[in-house]
Amino acid sequence: MQTGEKDWEICLMKRRFALREMETRLHILNEEFKVLHEHNPIDHMISRIKSPHAIEEKLIRKGFPVTESMAEEHIRDIAGLRIICSFTDDVYHISRLIEEQTDLRLTQKKDYIEKPKPNGYQSLHLIVEVPVNLTTAAEFIQVEVQIRTMAMDVWASLEHKMYYKFRHDVPKYLQENLRESAVTLYELDEKMNTLKKEINMFHTLPSIRI
Ligand code: GTP
Ligand code: MG
Repeated sequence: MQTGEKDWEICLMKRRFALREMETRLHILNEEFKVLHEHNPIDHMISRIKSPHAIEEKLIRKGFPVTESMAEEHIRDIAGLRIICSFTDDVYHISRLIEEQTDLRLTQKKDYIEKPKPNGYQSLHLIVEVPVNLTTAAEFIQVEVQIRTMAMDVWASLEHKMYYKFRHDVPKYLQENLRESAVTLYELDEKMNTLKKEINMFHTLPSIRI
């Protein structure tokens, strides 16, 4: 990294704080939901801060000078949070709950579930600006939030592995197989979602006593 080490340290620190803030908010939503509805919409979450090396690579790839201010301005996924849900309904529910938090600023939403990528990739992506209270002032820090089902997550991990294994040049037949499995997984998610709704309806019927 070429610019001041301290600037980078502060940049990454703020993003760690923003991630912690988002994770706490989501843990609260998940726990409250569990108490009210006896269901956890979130199965698990993974958070990560992009490594300085990966930030540098991305800046170069995008044609920007490698400086901390360029990273702050152009790299929106330095702080990343992935939320894995069991059901598609939960994905949208979590997204709505995030959007409804009035002190968060939603700056971008990409729905790759409604409109999957040509390779089959599905996920709901949000870029949110999270208020972080520092000693000097409150600052809004960007966090990339990816929300997806377990099935979508398994698919994305495999696709990611393949992409690197073949050095970005995946054979056509594997690409096609992968796209087909994304469709199969989509259908499975739909079935599971419907099944869950039916089970829930059954659950709310008054119990019959003999
Ligand atoms: P970058 O790709 O990060 O520059 O962002 P973008 O502006 O193209 O945003 P997009 O929302 O499309 O992708 C953001 C992130 O989602 C990526 O960094 C990946 O982590 C993930 N992602 C997007 N597309 C794919 C895909 O086809 N396969 C997998 N495995 N992950 C993807
Ligand atoms: Mg990314």
